[in-house]
Amino acid sequence: MRIGVLTAGGDCPGLNAVIRSVTHRALTYHGDEVIGFEDGFKGLLEGRYRPLDLNSVSGILARGGTILGSSRLERARLHEAADNWRTICSGYGLDVLIPIGGEGTLTAARLLAEAGMPVVGVPKTIDNDISATDRTFGFDTAVTVATEAIDRLKTTAESHQRVMVVEVMGRHAGWIALESGMAGGAHGICLPERPFDPADLVAMVEERFARGKKFAVICVAEGAHPAEGTMPYAHGEIDAYGHERFAGIGARLAAELEQRMGKEARPVILGHVQRGGVPTAYDRVLATRFGWHAVEAAHKGAFGCMTALRGTAVDLVPLADAVMVLKRVPEDRMQEAESVF
Ligand code: F6P
Repeated sequence: MRIGVLTAGGDCPGLNAVIRSVTHRALTYHGDEVIGFEDGFKGLLEGRYRPLDLNSVSGILARGGTILGSSRLERARLHEAADNWRTICSGYGLDVLIPIGGEGTLTAARLLAEAGMPVVGVPKTIDNDISATDRTFGFDTAVTVATEAIDRLKTTAESHQRVMVVEVMGRHAGWIALESGMAGGAHGICLPERPFDPADLVAMVEERFARGKKFAVICVAEGAHPAEGTMPYAHGEIDAYGHERFAGIGARLAAELEQRMGKEARPVILGHVQRGGVPTAYDRVLATRFGWHAVEAAHKGAFGCMTALRGTAVDLVPLADAVMVLKRVPEDRMQEAESVF
């Protein structure tokens, strides 16, 4: 079998572990050939690829990023690929394509699969918001980085009797904010799923100070936004999922709290630090399992599917179940977190 693999969309710790796992399983167990396309679907359309062997994937398990490079592709070029999938497959001698990516990439994979191309997807995103899988690799690493940041911010906040507002990634879903906020012991968490009222945060901070705790840390997802009429803000853009995108929430919230409380507040935006660097052990293991199952799926002819974690088992689910609806934080998860603020 000739397997093509590519990584597309925003990068994520664990991508290299999947590439390594696919290559090992395919070459040593099945005697397959593996080629890696460079820079996502762009490499596929532009003929940029290289063969992958055991040496080319050696030493990459613990490396962040992706050895293949990644990119986002305009929809029109994807339709071009779907229309020409037969030529693409026969041009490269491909029996299957394994695209590793987030919602956008899996939507593209579905399009190609529906056009008839043999595709097995592998989900990735630090945001953990892909439906039909309990977890995506990259999420554990992002939560670990954000938790360490909260731990560190607490000591400087206490020295200066400040409120620190930590903005973490999560455009549409607040999984990173929820879990890093819980693990780091944040005193308030703001998620895209539940519009917040700054008055509640002010009350929480005042109550802490009255108890003699002279600092507070609030963890806010980048996609969080205030409830209507609770804070002056310009409305953001409505994205493809019907969610409002509101840039710079961390800085705006810190300014708002400072003004309302007369206490110093500082915003800290973690940004791409959460996506870079070495994957955690958990992410390396999940990514390796996904790679193994993707190759097995290809050999079974289970095309149009993606690997998914269900409980502790890795399963295959139709790509159609994984895209268009994001997995968001349910209200009961937020209630668990709130009980320890
Ligand atoms: O999808 C993952 C994600 O990390 C989002 O949380 C974030 O908004 C986005 O990627 C940032 O993407 P870019 O690298 O294009 O700035």
